[in-house]
Amino acid sequence: MAKMWAGVTDGKTEKIADDFNSSIRFDCRMYRQDITGSMAHAQMLAGQGIITQTDADALIDGLSSILDDLESGKLAIDMECEDIHMFVEQVLTSRIGDVGKKLHTARSRNDQVALDIRMYLRDEIAEISSLTTALIAAITNKAEQYKDAIMPGYTHLQRAQPITFGHQLMAYAMMLLRDVDRLADCRKRMNVSPIGCCALAGTTYDTDRWFEAQKLGFDGICMNSLDGVSDRDFCAELMSAISILMMHLSRFSEEIILWSSWEFKFIELSDAFTTGSSIMPQKKNPDMAELVRGKTGRVYGNLMALLTTLKGLPLAYNKDMQEDKEAVFDSCDTVKMCLQVFAPMIDAMKANTDNMKRAAQKGFINATDLADYLVKKGMPFRSAYKISGQLVAQCIRNNTVLEELPLEAYQAYSDLFDIDLYQQIDLLNCVEKRISEGGTSVASVEKQIAYVRQSIYE
Ligand code: ARG
Repeated sequence: MAKMWAGVTDGKTEKIADDFNSSIRFDCRMYRQDITGSMAHAQMLAGQGIITQTDADALIDGLSSILDDLESGKLAIDMECEDIHMFVEQVLTSRIGDVGKKLHTARSRNDQVALDIRMYLRDEIAEISSLTTALIAAITNKAEQYKDAIMPGYTHLQRAQPITFGHQLMAYAMMLLRDVDRLADCRKRMNVSPIGCCALAGTTYDTDRWFEAQKLGFDGICMNSLDGVSDRDFCAELMSAISILMMHLSRFSEEIILWSSWEFKFIELSDAFTTGSSIMPQKKNPDMAELVRGKTGRVYGNLMALLTTLKGLPLAYNKDMQEDKEAVFDSCDTVKMCLQVFAPMIDAMKANTDNMKRAAQKGFINATDLADYLVKKGMPFRSAYKISGQLVAQCIRNNTVLEELPLEAYQAYSDLFDIDLYQQIDLLNCVEKRISEGGTSVASVEKQIAYVRQSIYE
């Protein structure tokens, strides 16, 4: 096929080279941004007297008919074209004639593609943020439902202190809230217009870059034209925000997988979000959570791929940069799929509160509270810690728990022990005493829920 860029060469390339060079199969998804950007460009050219208003009207009408026809399915994207920019321009010229050829005045595909990606990705950010917010809402509702369900809190995956399931869930809500914030922050630096940087050096035409930027909803313009066409750090930044978000989803998934195992049995996922085994009839596998954990790897991989592609590139545009899109699009698609399945999975998840409580009773997770009891009666912490440890050892030897040890057994270690100790080591009481801000008491978790709800619904 004859190339629009045929000039010094005759534009006759090998088919294999065309296929290798072409990006239309993945950049076609930016058709709307490409057309909208071109409409603003035509309007700017007329406003500055670079083309006539009549020509601009013809361009804009032509572009808008292409958009309509693409949206309605009347016009199919020609996968033989090199990229989406060439496709739109080609259809435009075939529809409105030579005027179509004026559109590319004071513009290059280098600033055009940079514009399209920024416009495309800021919409993606909006979608990812709202899906993340929906997940935060689902987690917060679950946390409210289980704000007094006692479970063991772990460090080193060893039972440590009693907490509530609501408290544990709210930890994830806080992480995801920061992810939404990170996305908003990333948008700030992304929402700057590169159009008008042209190929690399700017242009001799008297353009109005601010007009186009404002028309297209940007907050500013790239202040150095070389940077404007070479910058892809907004992609790297978004992919890194998505990677961190996926890391959070992956940790959560890991816990969901553990908790739904027979060994824990803390939660039950709905049948609608699990799969069976083709051979073992008893299996109910947490595939969704496993896939989220698995897909985190490819999202990290995408980030690493782009950083590696960019690290040795001289200024300004290099074709290597065409590799940005598949990576960043894949990260966006992946995180959106994960979030879409995660929220309803959490919504339908049930906690086995009895099992959680039983697990909390078995691990001596009130041993710290026992030591604190003695400290509050005047004993130095280190001594209290030691006695508490000896009592735990005695329980283990006798296969019992602190709650069931008779008072005499306690008093053999210290006469500070009295009958009120049982109230002090009662699990619910242990939880309720942790009233410090951010702590596990019901009142404190309620505050966390209110804080998160206020942040997402403000
Ligand atoms: N398809 C190209 C890309 O995605 C568009 C820019 C092409 N520019 C050029 N000078 N060849 O990067």
